[in-house]
Amino acid sequence: MAKINNHLRLGVNIDHVATIRNARGSNYPDPVRAAKIAADFGADGITAHLREDRRHITDTDILRLCDEINIPLNLEMAATDEMLEIALHHKPHAACIVPEKREERTTEGGLDVIGQIKDLEPFVKSLSDAGIRVSLFIEPDPAALDAAKSLGAPVVELHTGAYCDANAGHERDVELERIVRAAMHASDIGLECHAGHGLTFDTVQPVARIANIAELNIGHFLVGEAIFVGLGNSISEMRRLMVEARVVEARAGK
Ligand code: PXP
Repeated sequence: MAKINNHLRLGVNIDHVATIRNARGSNYPDPVRAAKIAADFGADGITAHLREDRRHITDTDILRLCDEINIPLNLEMAATDEMLEIALHHKPHAACIVPEKREERTTEGGLDVIGQIKDLEPFVKSLSDAGIRVSLFIEPDPAALDAAKSLGAPVVELHTGAYCDANAGHERDVELERIVRAAMHASDIGLECHAGHGLTFDTVQPVARIANIAELNIGHFLVGEAIFVGLGNSISEMRRLMVEARVVEARAGK
């Protein structure tokens, strides 16, 4: 059984600071400055997705993040030779392998780990051999978790998009239950479990209460909220909600 840690880590995804910058081809707002603010306001790590089309984060951003931030960097990457070469060059703390389609607006679903097991194997191995902690971004599905385990990845990140997009009430409860069961299964088979995608102040607490989840990666909502309250305040409030959910859950578990 994987160890259950009560501290829920927050990885702040800064992609959409770069989206705003790139909309005008300017050099501001600077995602590295956002990463430093995130660290100052208690982020446990920074997440950045270098997409094949470089629509937000650029190669220079990755270089600067590696040089200038002093908290762990989680590089989101597609399983391509180009991205593998970049990851092996920079050696971030972690790499999260995600599916990527050019035409999608965001990462729309989890990896097809079962269908692509042979293709993914060399990526998991090369990254792991380089000392990079590999996670696979998957749907909350026990069969996908088993496939991730058989690939030797130490971590899975559960896609919370369906849960966040579901209508509040029964529909969302059903999606939450899938995440709860998947997180339990991850723990049973010895995988560290992360979660993320689409989380907001309204949807974070039920996921944060799941004791087997060690880390949440959150970006789009935090950057959007920062327009109104500032990035530090946006991150602080997310952290407060996460801590509150964990404390309540720890008390209930006694
Ligand atoms: N985790 C993964 C693997 C992702 O691809 C993303 C989106 O880039 C996130 C977390 C964060 O999602 P959001 O920006 O919707 O909070």
